[in-house]
Amino acid sequence: MSKKVVTIGLGYIGLPTSALIASNKIAVHGVDISQYVVDTINAGKIHIVEPDLDKEVESAVKQGYLIADTKPVVADVYLVVVPTPFKGNYEPDISYVQAATEGIIPLLKDGDLYIIESTSPVGTTEKMMNLIFSIRPELKDKIYLAYCPERVLPGNVMYELVNNDRVIGGVNEESTLKAISFYQQFVKGKLHKTNARTAEMCKLTENSSRDVQIAFANELSLICDKAGINVWELIELANKHPRVNILQPGCGVGGHCIAVDPYFIVSEYPMEARIIGKAREVNNYKSFWCAEKVKTAKLEFELKRGKKPKIAILGLAFKPNIDDLRESPAKYIAQRIMQDAQDEMYFIVEPNIKEHHVFKLTNVTDAIENADILVFLVAHNEFKNVKISSDKVILDFCGVTNK
Ligand SMILES: NC(=O)c1ccc[n+]([C@@H]2O[C@H](COP(=O)([O-])OP(=O)(O)OC[C@H]3O[C@@H](n4cnc5c(N)ncnc54)[C@H](O)[C@@H]3O)[C@@H](O)[C@H]2O)c1
Repeated sequence: MSKKVVTIGLGYIGLPTSALIASNKIAVHGVDISQYVVDTINAGKIHIVEPDLDKEVESAVKQGYLIADTKPVVADVYLVVVPTPFKGNYEPDISYVQAATEGIIPLLKDGDLYIIESTSPVGTTEKMMNLIFSIRPELKDKIYLAYCPERVLPGNVMYELVNNDRVIGGVNEESTLKAISFYQQFVKGKLHKTNARTAEMCKLTENSSRDVQIAFANELSLICDKAGINVWELIELANKHPRVNILQPGCGVGGHCIAVDPYFIVSEYPMEARIIGKAREVNNYKSFWCAEKVKTAKLEFELKRGKKPKIAILGLAFKPNIDDLRESPAKYIAQRIMQDAQDEMYFIVEPNIKEHHVFKLTNVTDAIENADILVFLVAHNEFKNVKISSDKVILDFCGVTNK
């Protein structure tokens, strides 16, 4: 069906998507504003960490199905996969989507399909449609526009891109059907039909749902701390109920999706989105609370033992066993603790990265052996089953030492 596809944004989502489409022998012209990204891909290499992606890109470039460029070209399908961060006031920033769209408006022609995959606030696809038709009114009813969110898990992207179900919503029925027939070429998961606004909201709902459920677990952890109850044991017992499934608490919520996307709902619907907004507050507060707990433990140690403690901060990533520090609550907590540092010695451990431009990293064995206070922030595999002598103060905010 597709003769040529332009993908705009060649990052964690855009590049695997481009490689997958190209591996189905469809010509892909991938666009990125970064010359480094473009040069790396055209050399058959990749600039991000994702299993199996390197082989796919190398082969697609070699066979001539994938070309990277800083500028788009005339095509039949345009896929927008650029970042959608939030601004300082937690309002979504769709300027990247707009810039990507403006770049292709002069190239659009009758019968083209335009799809946004970037996580977007409700109404973004319609906004981009209005933008396109304000500049090219002759294209009204002549092109197809749809929204199709991405729900892959980093680390398993190449599998999930093919096998996950997808929600596809056009600005009208014809656009939905056109987009479905595009994805059918390379997706084995079910393709669920809806409209653009519902598809946009669906992505935001999925991540907000996770955020709210984690907030419930985090709130329980605060209550249990005051009540002298082991929250991990409590949750394990409560989950024995056949219809209860509480998630695990942690030191907050991070990453570029769950900690970001709920704001896209809250900023547009502040009066209605009360639980969603509150969940964001609870999860952010949990990180602040963890940092305060460490400060209190430091003071107590000093009063009791008459010397400054040595402190190990274990984990900086936003979730276990990854190297991604974006929006990481553990990193935030480490920064907050270090802001008040006096003469104490700190051991910072993040086994998934080699170095960090702010923190001097230590290995896990040295940190656990030498520190007086052990602060577990992320449940990395390396922290499981470590031997800890009984004289250490343990602050385990992620349940990794809970046997
Ligand atoms: N990474 C994930 O796990 C994930 C999962 C689901 C949804 N998403 C969503 O997918 C979208 C893309 O996320 P990502 O993780 O791939 O981002 P990313 O930062 O890894 O990649 C985005 C790329 O777009 C490029 N870019 C920015 N503006 C551009 C423009 N105007 N023209 C061309 N290229 C441009 C950047 O240089 C970058 O290489 C976001 O909306 C994100 O929320 C991401």
